[in-house]
Amino acid sequence: MSLRNRLLASIFATLLLSLIAGGAFTYWHAVAKIETEMNAAIAVGSRIARNAVDDWEETTDPARRLALLVADFEGDRHLRATLVGPNGNELRSSEVARADTPAPAWLIALLAAPPKKVAVDLPEIFDSFGTFVLQTDPRNEVAEVWSDVWLTLSVLTIFCALVLAFIYWTLATTVRPLQSLTAAFARVGDGDYRERLNEQGPLELVRLSQSFNQMVERLARSEAQNKRLQQQLTNVQDEERSDLARDLHDEIGPLLFAADVDTVAIDQLVKAGEYEAIPHRVGIIRDAIGRMQRHVRDILGRLRSATLLDVGLAHAIDNLVAFWRSHRPKLVFSVDIPEESFGEVIDGTVYRVVQESISNAVRHGSPTTIGITVVSNPDGSIDIRVTDDGCGLKTGGVRGMGIVGMRERVATLGGTLEVENRNDGRGVAVVAHLPPRGTHTAAPSFETREAMLQ
Ligand SMILES: Nc1ncnc2c1ncn2[C@@H]1O[C@H](COP(=O)(O)OP(=O)(O)OP(=O)(O)O)[C@@H](O)[C@H]1O
Ligand SMILES: [Mg+2]
Repeated sequence: MSLRNRLLASIFATLLLSLIAGGAFTYWHAVAKIETEMNAAIAVGSRIARNAVDDWEETTDPARRLALLVADFEGDRHLRATLVGPNGNELRSSEVARADTPAPAWLIALLAAPPKKVAVDLPEIFDSFGTFVLQTDPRNEVAEVWSDVWLTLSVLTIFCALVLAFIYWTLATTVRPLQSLTAAFARVGDGDYRERLNEQGPLELVRLSQSFNQMVERLARSEAQNKRLQQQLTNVQDEERSDLARDLHDEIGPLLFAADVDTVAIDQLVKAGEYEAIPHRVGIIRDAIGRMQRHVRDILGRLRSATLLDVGLAHAIDNLVAFWRSHRPKLVFSVDIPEESFGEVIDGTVYRVVQESISNAVRHGSPTTIGITVVSNPDGSIDIRVTDDGCGLKTGGVRGMGIVGMRERVATLGGTLEVENRNDGRGVAVVAHLPPRGTHTAAPSFETREAMLQ
């Protein structure tokens, strides 16, 4: 059941219960009132009758006096007077007044007790002419209750209808934003993060809409960030693959070709019987094989660095440095990394920061030395520092994905990263700080992360 129908149903049920309780109360009240009225009517009627004949000594015609007494009650609202003859026959009787709006018979049966009959005790002089009897007739009293109930019922019905209509209208206007919220959630669930709610209406709905909008904004940013990281990962993988392909082609290919040429040459030397030249050729082949082994080891080292946790952080960075040394023999590296492992996630982040920093230094700075330091502080925090003595950052330089990616990785662990020219004006310093391990799980808010990405 919808919220609106549920509320309306409970309000309707409450009103109905109130009506039933009110009806029961009205019933008991009406029964008691009619009973009291009838008793009072009998008492008053008897007194009136007796008072009317208290001058009986002066009566010359008692029969006529009795007839007049009955006539006195003509048109009474609650009493019917009857003159009953000595042998029980009705000699004459008065008529009770008729109500303007008579009550239905079922209501009279429901509310009124059976009519009461009282023979009024009159002076003896009248006894031989008949008995004066008063009988209650509750119809007028019930008719009064009936018209009161009608009035009350009409007022209550109008009141209930107005209350229900007002509540229906209020709910309709209040529930409408909830319907748009449901629709908005469905669209966000389908991945449409452009969805925003109108921050208008009752205070609670404004707060709800604000929270919804903030949530969608965060989701949108998170989605964009994931895409960026995914893109960066793909770029790195592509770069690594093409590096490997190039190395295999440029380094291993010529050596294999040279070895092949030398084996052909040995074959020819054997056929020509020039055995003394063979050891020289064999030496060249072994030299080529040795170089190939070194290259293959380099490549394996780089491939293994992708799963650096198997070999440890320090070893993985050593492999990385070895790779760059083999490619840039003139480049001097100074490495200071503790042997300890900081755990899978932190080791991975440290490695990626060092990897990108070296890569940037070599690609953009043409340095002669690169310094790599990782310090594990007593409070559990970690400082990473990669410096080079290259040309430094150019103003208005291209903004690639490398630095952004490093920042995001570090920020995910709650840390900070700075990339700036060194104070002594020689090259670039990449400085990252990772907070103590216990706080690593707490990623910074999106706002902080966005600010750091600026
Ligand atoms: N050590 C450095 N020396 C000189 N310039 C640098 C150095 N590190 C970064 N830069 C400059 O900062 C820019 C941004 O670096 P970033 O790593 O974000 O992107 P990129 O290296 O150009 O591309 P990508 O890393 O996405 O392949 C570089 O293009 C370069 O101009
Ligand atoms: Mg880069």
